[in-house]
Amino acid sequence: MHAPTGPGDLIGRQAELDGIDRFLGLARRHPSGLVLEGEAGIGKTSLWCKGVERARARGFRVLSTRPGGADVQLSFAGVADLLGAMDEQTRERLPPPQRRALAAALLVEDVSDEPLDDRAVSAAFLSVLRVLAEDRTCILAVDDVQWLDAASMRVLDFALRRLEAEPVGILATARTDDRSVRAGELVRTIGEGRAERIELGPLSLGATHELLRWRLDLRLSRPTLVRLHATCGGNPFYALQIGEALRRSGREPVAGEPLPVPRDLGKLVRERLVGLSSRTRTTLLLGAALAEPSVLLLWRATGDPAAVEHDLDEAERAGIVQVLGPVVRFAHPLFASVHYASAPAAERRAAHRRLADVVGSGEERARHLALAAAGPDGAVAGALEEAARGARARGATPMAAQLFEQAVSLTPEDDQAGAQRRRVAAAEAHFASGGTARARDLLESALAEAEPGNERADILYRLGMTTRAVDGARSIRLLQEAAEEAQADDGLRAKVLCGLSHWVYAHHVGMDALERAARSAVELAEHSGDHRTLAVALGQLGGTRFMRDDDVPAELMERAVVLEEESGEPSVDEDGGPAIQYATMLLYAGRLAPARELLERLCERARRTGEAGIAHPLQMLAYLEFYSGRWGRAEAAAREALDVSLQSGRESEEVGARSALGLVLGGRGELDPARRHLERGLAAAERSGRGGRAPRSALAMLELSVGNAEAAWGWLEPAVAFVIPLGVLMLRPEVALAIDVLLELGRVRDAEAILDPFEEAARKRDRPWALAAAMRCRGLALAARDRLPEAESTGERAVELAELSPNRLELPLSLLALGTVQRRLGRKQGARATLGRALASFEDLGARLWAERVRRELGRIGGRVPYEHELSATEESIAELVAEGRSNKQIAAGLHLSVKTVEWNLSKLYRKLGVRSRTELAAALRRG
Ligand SMILES: Nc1ncnc2c1ncn2[C@@H]1O[C@H](COP(=O)(O)OP(=O)(O)O)[C@@H](O)[C@H]1O
Ligand SMILES: [Mg+2]
Repeated sequence: MHAPTGPGDLIGRQAELDGIDRFLGLARRHPSGLVLEGEAGIGKTSLWCKGVERARARGFRVLSTRPGGADVQLSFAGVADLLGAMDEQTRERLPPPQRRALAAALLVEDVSDEPLDDRAVSAAFLSVLRVLAEDRTCILAVDDVQWLDAASMRVLDFALRRLEAEPVGILATARTDDRSVRAGELVRTIGEGRAERIELGPLSLGATHELLRWRLDLRLSRPTLVRLHATCGGNPFYALQIGEALRRSGREPVAGEPLPVPRDLGKLVRERLVGLSSRTRTTLLLGAALAEPSVLLLWRATGDPAAVEHDLDEAERAGIVQVLGPVVRFAHPLFASVHYASAPAAERRAAHRRLADVVGSGEERARHLALAAAGPDGAVAGALEEAARGARARGATPMAAQLFEQAVSLTPEDDQAGAQRRRVAAAEAHFASGGTARARDLLESALAEAEPGNERADILYRLGMTTRAVDGARSIRLLQEAAEEAQADDGLRAKVLCGLSHWVYAHHVGMDALERAARSAVELAEHSGDHRTLAVALGQLGGTRFMRDDDVPAELMERAVVLEEESGEPSVDEDGGPAIQYATMLLYAGRLAPARELLERLCERARRTGEAGIAHPLQMLAYLEFYSGRWGRAEAAAREALDVSLQSGRESEEVGARSALGLVLGGRGELDPARRHLERGLAAAERSGRGGRAPRSALAMLELSVGNAEAAWGWLEPAVAFVIPLGVLMLRPEVALAIDVLLELGRVRDAEAILDPFEEAARKRDRPWALAAAMRCRGLALAARDRLPEAESTGERAVELAELSPNRLELPLSLLALGTVQRRLGRKQGARATLGRALASFEDLGARLWAERVRRELGRIGGRVPYEHELSATEESIAELVAEGRSNKQIAAGLHLSVKTVEWNLSKLYRKLGVRSRTELAAALRRG
């Protein structure tokens, strides 16, 4: 999914646009039709306009009409519209009777004394089409064909039946909710094989989110967004209307409160309801109050099956519901919301009271009890709490949050303990499902009421954890206070210390403090016998070890992961358990395959339970796929992570998601969007008190790729300054990048000062990606000191190592470095071959800017520049490997291309060189 470039752009309709392109392609060859169908507001006209635009862009002639409701009566209004732009010359080519008939139909000549001949108009219309289609493809564009006047419909029908091979297309939209038969007629007329129908379905949740962001600049919390999406049934028009009403109201609805329905829309829907008898409206209110209305439940709630049958019948005839066997469905979800929202509060409560007695499940019953209550009620609050716990346990987290909230609001004044417990539980469920701000509000008010000791400690702890992503310093203060307060409870203290040993605090408190906290957490957790906390504590300890020695403490982590699995669902949050920690380490260590497996497993779980925490494993996956060279996947994961993080207000995840997205887009050379994401990511990092290493490194990478080392260092310096003084791990990508940038700036000494320990650490750890990067940088440093022969041999070694590196950018980067040295040594042939491989490999990744850099380097070799006039660099590399007798498979592996790409390039090679076989190719190369 790509961000649209302006408010006029369509969101989430790629498949439909592809359908339009297909149709336009066919219309060029023979009569074709495409009907866009769907309910009002689903986006037919918008799509149709795009179709018209695309047709014009192809140089087609477009005749269009957009009949409004009132036009249905006016004879030939549609034909007049379609032919409105017809010129005099075309008219003159028609036989006189047809010309006259047309003139009458178009009301351009006063011929009112002659009776209007339907058939003559039709024949004339057909002639016009034929004339117009002689030189250009002609598209008849009709928006809302159900409102086309009957006479024009007959004309179209006549003409379309008689077209044979003319390049004429008809692009129409049709409403399905009016049970229009027009669309079907049109399709039959053109011929089933030549016409297609596209039913516009609902926009996805993500597309709706984007629509609200782009059109209204409205950002909703995920739970509200989910409700809005369900209410509008994915209909963009309704989504915009409700979004507008939400924006006007200036706040999101609280639990149990209906979404605001805009007045116009409400009126529109109510107009359909007013004609109904009052009993039918009451029955429908019961239906609207039910999560899943059914005939049976309505029978039970009213105790009168015959009346229900009668009422549903009436509503069905009015087009408000559909009764599908036992199921009652509102024709549009909006009917239910509007009807419900506009009923008086007392009637709504009465409906819920009746329903509470007849629904089965605990949750549904509790919900009705709550909505039936007029004020606080201990029993109802208790039932709600129980239902909420059930919902939470089965992973229906947003539902649980709503139920807990309702429980809080119905708890009687004198039950302080109950209110506290429910507030905390509601906060937990909100946080888990992405309602971060609401979670914090609830905890703040719980904190104000809390008793000193464990209760206060627990709330401080939770508040500290929810605040981590937005305010690191405050989060530490809260957690430290919690640790003090929790002296009496080992288990709780262990949890708090786990929270405190998180790496985000490294630059606040230092590495020693982190490791001490983790170690104490492990001891306390072992003592208290809480396995889950022990798992987390072990994970944290592993994390601090990894930060310190940069060596994956595999045994410790495996133990922690198993322990976590045994104690329930693993957590996917950044703050989560050992599984996510372990994945992070594996990723940093360049062990991509096991990291991917673990991350995909975590994503799958989080998706199942709807956890907003999924943003974290997703953005890690995005990084991983970027380094694996699968940029399409990286982009998809980063975008999903970004969506979730924005919807759930998790700024720390937004930082990661935007950084990964910026890396991919920047890699592809889409500089503006890349910069935008990275700068926003950096701003979010700074807002939440983080260093912004990830966006800074990505920005540096981007500047380096356009040859702006100065700017790159500007971004990178603070990030590196953060890593190095901690004495933490030298083996981070940003450290290698810093060496690159410093070398590019000619600061060889500074570069070597980082390179020396980096290389040493890479050797000690035997980590392929770091070794390869170190060797490449070493070669560059030697070259900078004009020690070219050494630089060459080091560069060759770097290439060998890069072939083993999990980082797919490493190979072309090292080839580029080596090729440059070879050029400076005057080895034209070798330089050309090496740079050719670099080019092919960058191109294969889609790294446009890097590829350009290689091309510039190739251009500096001088002498014959064959790849421009004869063979492309890729072709040349392939040709050389063929000459060496390698198979396609070997070549593909060597150049990191797919076998298909190799085959395709070979066929081009054969053509260009005029050869027919590999042997001939090798011979031709020897000659040339
Ligand atoms: N895919 C989309 N992306 C962005 N906006 C859309 C999209 N589809 C519809 N809209 C907006 O929703 C509203 C209704 O769309 P419209 O095309 O008029 O629907 P229809 O013709 O089916 O009644 C318009 O404001 C339109 O701009
Ligand atoms: Mg329309």
